[in-house]
Amino acid sequence: MRYLDEILPANCRTIYSTPHAVRELLAETDLVIGAVLIHGAAAPKLVKREDLKLMRKGSVIVDVAVDQGGCIETVHATTHAQPTYVVDGVIHYCVANMPGAVPRTSTWALTNATLPWAVKLAELGPVRAVEESHELRTAANVLGGKITYQAVAEAFDLPYVDPIEAIRASAADAPRKDGAKKSPALGRK
Ligand SMILES: NC(=O)c1ccc[n+]([C@@H]2O[C@H](COP(=O)([O-])OP(=O)(O)OC[C@H]3O[C@@H](n4cnc5c(N)ncnc54)[C@H](O)[C@@H]3O)[C@@H](O)[C@H]2O)c1
Repeated sequence: MRYLDEILPANCRTIYSTPHAVRELLAETDLVIGAVLIHGAAAPKLVKREDLKLMRKGSVIVDVAVDQGGCIETVHATTHAQPTYVVDGVIHYCVANMPGAVPRTSTWALTNATLPWAVKLAELGPVRAVEESHELRTAANVLGGKITYQAVAEAFDLPYVDPIEAIRASAADAPRKDGAKKSPALGRK
């Protein structure tokens, strides 16, 4: 926040997200854009249904986080065909695939960020990629049928398994045609 305060124009200010601050600002806000993410978990509901009464009629809520359940209690996913609906006089825009409005640009942006990881996976195979790359290890959600991402395990109330353990157990458990156990080189040439 300190960094943003330094680089943003003078008419932009940052405010720490607390229920009190959110409620106070709703009364004077024309446009609320929700974009919170807690990795692997459902988005926290920062604006409650009763808070909508604080907002002016005709004001707008855009909940970008709708694909993770939304951070505003009154949102449900909409499409580009029918993008908006109204609750208590407040216009809701909750398209679950907003980048689809600019598919070419968004595909360039996304693949610029993700392609290096896809190449790494293809080069190393899943076992070595998880063993050797901290980033891919911490990004893996499910390996060998086990949940290897703490927040996902908590969200579904299922056991969490360390990624390295999960991928080695899966490789060791898979019987080969000759009856021996597979080496942990699953997916490797
Ligand atoms: N609807 C769409 O078309 C669309 C498109 C792109 C992304 N998304 C979704 O938008 C969300 C945000 O994506 P991102 O890439 O910007 O994520 P991000 O991780 O870069 O940013 C999320 C931010 O939320 C903040 N945050 C977490 N809890 C908070 C709280 N209680 N109060 C205030 N801030 C809080 C985090 O500090 C973080 O800065 C994700 O759910 C993503 O899936 C939706």
